[in-house]
Amino acid sequence: MRTQVAIVGAGPAGLLLGQLLEQHGIDTVILERRSQDYVLSRIRAGVLEQGSVDLLDKAGVGTRMHGEGLVHDGVEFCFDGDKYRFNFRELIGRTVMVYGQTEVTRDLMHAREASGAKTIYEAEDVSLHAFDGDHPKVRYVKDGVEHDISCDFIAGCDGYHGISRASVPEEALRTFERVYPFGWLGVLVDRPPVADELIYAHHARGFALCSMRSPTRSRYYVQVPANEAIDSWSDDRFWDELRRRVDPETADNLVTGPSIEKSIAPLRSFVAEPLRFGRLFLAGDAAHIVPPTGAKGLNLALNDVGCLAESFTEFYRDKSSAGIDHYSERVLKRVWKAERFSWWMTSILHTFPDTDTFGRRIQRAEFDYLVGSKAAQCALAENYTGLPV
Ligand code: FAD
Ligand code: DHB
Repeated sequence: MRTQVAIVGAGPAGLLLGQLLEQHGIDTVILERRSQDYVLSRIRAGVLEQGSVDLLDKAGVGTRMHGEGLVHDGVEFCFDGDKYRFNFRELIGRTVMVYGQTEVTRDLMHAREASGAKTIYEAEDVSLHAFDGDHPKVRYVKDGVEHDISCDFIAGCDGYHGISRASVPEEALRTFERVYPFGWLGVLVDRPPVADELIYAHHARGFALCSMRSPTRSRYYVQVPANEAIDSWSDDRFWDELRRRVDPETADNLVTGPSIEKSIAPLRSFVAEPLRFGRLFLAGDAAHIVPPTGAKGLNLALNDVGCLAESFTEFYRDKSSAGIDHYSERVLKRVWKAERFSWWMTSILHTFPDTDTFGRRIQRAEFDYLVGSKAAQCALAENYTGLPV
């Protein structure tokens, strides 16, 4: 088989890249290790920056998002029970959209099906070859039979545990990492959200987040120690813990119910540099991870492939390699700013095992400074709603 761009991974990054390239008449094949149903069953991010919304519109997959997504003008922080609302629209004239990653993925899958572009699900043993030359190849096994795809470029959109970054010689890659000593225990429930907007809560017992997917479906998180056993968290224990970490009004208003999904996500900051190795390009979680505080992971992935699609389009349409030559440098600048913001949000909102009384006072001072300073609020608003591309 032959294609122009072979894409590894049918997460949001791989699917959006495929859609943007197909729009420009560039042929793609996507290889995905899991089944389509499995990909759609993963509950992950929920908040889209305005730039991500624009990009999904540009890709022609924004209709359902605009119908069903919830535009939020701001968020609330709750520090030891004291609440403050940051109104992004008033501060900087920007907003965010609450629309789940699962729905973004579903919309992109439907668009790909409609375009007739090829996606191979349950592709096993995917391996990348000769990407340091002009004729790269991707090999995979489907139903026990080995296949080769010849291509011009390979896009590694296969997440943190994928094969793409692992295929790069170790000496060609520089990595930066911080692992946090806790995770987020998340619960999805078919009950109305406790508030109209998201509440990020700091408490001595740990962080909590009240989020949502729709007017009838809520998503809640509490910070738990790293390596926590999920079986030790009954629904009742989860709701009790959440109530303790938020302000009394929120605790009283919380509508609980049986969880329809419950999982623990570890927290990590990670960046691999550079993002290009000959004809292999990394994008999304394959290249970088942020802790979820600040909701940047999905947004970064979408922005990466927006830039990569522009670069490939320039290559084929304008016969210019300027875009692909600058892809890594261009994307990494923004990635590091999101890494900084996610690290900062994580640092002020979580309880760290080694945080002493001084550290707690510093966290409180961060909150008080935000509450008292319009400049600090604008900085939060700019970063949360998404820095310019
Ligand atoms: P992925 O979504 O990981 O997609 C990669 C795809 O590649 C997957 O479908 C995978 O099956 C496939 N793949 C992997 N290896 C191979 C292979 N060898 N061959 C072929 N295919 C392969 N972000 C937030 O902003 N908020 C959140 O609440 C949040 N929660 C998260 C919870 C979890 C458990 C995880 C893992 C991430 C979470 N994130 C969250 C991050 C966000 O979901 C990611 O940033 C986003 O999914 C990145 O998209 P991606 O397409 O780059 O990678
Ligand atoms: C959600 C996840 C986040 O990481 C975040 O900052 C906000 C919302 C969510 O899953 O709804």
